[in-house]
Amino acid sequence: MPPRSYITTPIFYVNDKPHIGHAYTAIVCDVYARFMRFAGRDVFYLTGTDEHGQKVEKSAAARGITPQALADENAAEFRRVMSMLELEFDDFIRTTDADHVRQVQVFVNRLLEADAVYLGEFEGWYDEGQEEYFTETRARELEYKSPVGGQPLVRAREKNYYFRLSAFQERLEKLFEEQPDFVRPPARRNEVLGRLREGLTDIPMSRTNFTWGVPMPNDPGHVIYVWIDALLNYVTALGLAEPDSERYAKRADYWPPDYHVIGKEILWFHAVIWPALLMALELPLPRCVYAHSFWIREGQKMSKTLGNFIDLPTIEDYMGRYSLDAWRYYMVTQGPLGAADSDFSAAHFHEIYNADLVNTVGNCASRVTAMIGKYFDGALPGEVSGDARLTVAEHDWPSICAETVQECEARMLRFDLGGSIGSAVGLVRKVDGFINRTEPYKIVKDDSKRVELGAILYQCAEAIRIASLLLWAVMPDKSTELWRALSLQIEPGAGGLHALAEWGGLAEGQRVEKTALFPRIERASAGAAPAARL
Ligand code: MSP
Repeated sequence: MPPRSYITTPIFYVNDKPHIGHAYTAIVCDVYARFMRFAGRDVFYLTGTDEHGQKVEKSAAARGITPQALADENAAEFRRVMSMLELEFDDFIRTTDADHVRQVQVFVNRLLEADAVYLGEFEGWYDEGQEEYFTETRARELEYKSPVGGQPLVRAREKNYYFRLSAFQERLEKLFEEQPDFVRPPARRNEVLGRLREGLTDIPMSRTNFTWGVPMPNDPGHVIYVWIDALLNYVTALGLAEPDSERYAKRADYWPPDYHVIGKEILWFHAVIWPALLMALELPLPRCVYAHSFWIREGQKMSKTLGNFIDLPTIEDYMGRYSLDAWRYYMVTQGPLGAADSDFSAAHFHEIYNADLVNTVGNCASRVTAMIGKYFDGALPGEVSGDARLTVAEHDWPSICAETVQECEARMLRFDLGGSIGSAVGLVRKVDGFINRTEPYKIVKDDSKRVELGAILYQCAEAIRIASLLLWAVMPDKSTELWRALSLQIEPGAGGLHALAEWGGLAEGQRVEKTALFPRIERASAGAAPAARL
């Protein structure tokens, strides 16, 4: 049985239009999922939409439609974006799905039975935009303003069901100590741990002032707090509340996840509330909650007030000009996976496109395929002289490539996506360096060096082929284009990376066509349209 791997995105609020933040998290997960599947793992990649709550009810009312109609409309929009970005997820969960609603009630019943939930009265500082309560200390720190939208927090009082979060204080602190990688990157872990040590209070888990949600199973006048409903998506998607279901039979073994990938503003829910709920439900905990930072734009925070979000039309614009793969590449290699925010700028996008894609990957592939075309009529030369592989310029290519494959996989497993892709692009750079050093364009003039010339070009083509396998997860279209040019038919979906990445995949005599993977785009026209939107 291949090792299993479960990766999730947050489920997206349907009262928002899709933008770069959603696209980013989902692309990052897609690259991991694709790479790991190709490397032979049995991966389950989950994404979806978060559809309940007061905000959705209000937005729908403002438009004179039902919350369900609003949710249907926006869930469809999110799905459209996902297919536009060529994301290969295994399920798209919606919190209005009957399967989910039913299981949320089962889980909440279990919490009631375990006495992890009780009825009580609560007063606190409430962020209406985020539907989140804060303690007095935290509210003071925030100057009584929403940390996300900046609106004033309001004093709210409710008779509600409460989750005994405070009962998990010790176990959570222990978790953070024993599993230092439970929250990554480390800066985020330290933040959460600091806040955790200030002490936990119980949190409301039901509401009565609106109806758009999952009813409390024991008291239908209350709806379950949207965050509890939303977090449970990670287990309901696998059918964990219904051991007799087909869903459970097929999916239960994926639990626990390798990575819950989220943005840093929703870390508290995932790093503290979620593990406490799982402890109360006696379910194993996720291996890692990975909280990325934020994209900002041209040095400025993106916000609705400023109206400067990188929205869908802008993303489509970039994809139209530079290609989907270039967009995915920029997102993953330049994105805020670490502790710092990343600045999205039109100039930087263009610079990375040129440096890595046009001048490195594209140029190297076109150089090598063009030389094979010109010097060998497009028939791949062999790399051996007699029985022996010719080692030219002290380059032991089979070892260089094998090491790169290992490094790329190890980095990807650690969720160092930029590092993994960087190693693969590094391999292409080595090929370029090798060409400059061995100068096949000069050797070609010397007829006595035909065998050496053939060996050089074979090795270049073979190393590029291996790099393209490693880059497929981030640039599926361009890798496929290169494979076509090398007369290769590769179906990377289900395993095969290791066998395919063995040295010697290309056969002597194989047809090779010249490729131009990433065309040069003039800065003037390329930058103009996206920049004009600023
Ligand atoms: N519905 C909740 C998640 C529930 S998960 C059980 C939610 N949804 S969201 O639609 O508001 O956010 C989805 C994701 O987009 C979050 O991970 C968030 O961090 C991410 N982004 C929103 N703006 C972002 C940037 N500017 N940059 C990068 N990602 C950001 O929260």
